[in-house]
Amino acid sequence: MRYRPAGFVLLVLLVGGAGAGAGKWQALKQDGLHDPRNPAIDVLQEPGDALSVLEPDTAGNKVNWVTSLEQGLIQPRTSLDGRRVGRVRETSILMRNTLPMRYVKFPHKAHTEWMSCDNCHDRLFVAEVDANDMSMGRILEGKDCGVCHGAVAFPLTECDRCHNTDSSTVTSPSDVSWPDY
Ligand code: HEC
Ligand code: HEC
Ligand code: HEC
Repeated sequence: MRYRPAGFVLLVLLVGGAGAGAGKWQALKQDGLHDPRNPAIDVLQEPGDALSVLEPDTAGNKVNWVTSLEQGLIQPRTSLDGRRVGRVRETSILMRNTLPMRYVKFPHKAHTEWMSCDNCHDRLFVAEVDANDMSMGRILEGKDCGVCHGAVAFPLTECDRCHNTDSSTVTSPSDVSWPDY
């Protein structure tokens, strides 16, 4: 009996917390994709309930997936049965053909923690420095990085996240650095 009020307060806080975060995500009944009259809609999890407990972000689906993974808030399986051995590559590749923009430092680590090499090699990119003719125009057309960024990864409006390296901070002549961050 003595503990009941405390438990009740906690419940209100949890529900209140999820409700506050949920404002960033459209409810399924209002997203224009799900049929609001279908009774099965009530068994689906609301995006706000699932995503508001992860690291927040200002763009895309409002979750910073890289930090959420780093902090152990999610532990994606390597395969359906979880038995595939993931292979993380630690190198970063510096891309300098960026005109007035900062250089692009492509981190293998942040990518290979999510996906296997064959998502990119060699269908999208030859696994060799400077062997791929990339440009912002191609990316905006949905090629190269644009196959995923703007579709399943953070959007192309987030220039600074790719153009992340000031040229004055680059001392090594090499375009590949070990290890990453
Ligand atoms: C999200 C896409 C992506 C994934 C996944 C990926 N790579 Fe790469 N990789 C690239 C890009 C982009 C480059 C740079 C190409 C360039 O400079 O033209 C590169 C370059 C390389 C290079 C040459 C530079 C270096 O790091 O020595 C090797 C080797 C390589 N990748 C191996 C791998 C392996 C092994 C894996 C899996 C463990 C992998 N890559 C996963 C995109 C990817
Ligand atoms: C998903 C990663 C990514 C994002 C986001 C991104 N860029 Fe790029 N950008 C690149 C890459 C990769 C290159 C090619 C670099 C190279 O080949 O050395 C590039 C090249 C460029 C260039 C050089 C000229 C050209 O056409 O290639 C400019 C200018 C540029 N980006 C501007 C922008 C601006 C402005 C934004 C935001 C509106 C932006 N980029 C967002 C990855 C990105
Ligand atoms: C096959 C899909 C795919 C391709 C191709 C791809 N990315 Fe990514 N990228 C992802 C995913 C997934 C994430 C993690 C989720 C997120 O941040 O949205 C990510 C994250 C990143 C990050 C964030 C790292 C951090 O610490 O926050 C950078 C920077 C990045 N990508 C740059 C690039 C550049 C530059 C290219 C092209 C040379 C590229 N990506 C090509 C899927 C891809």
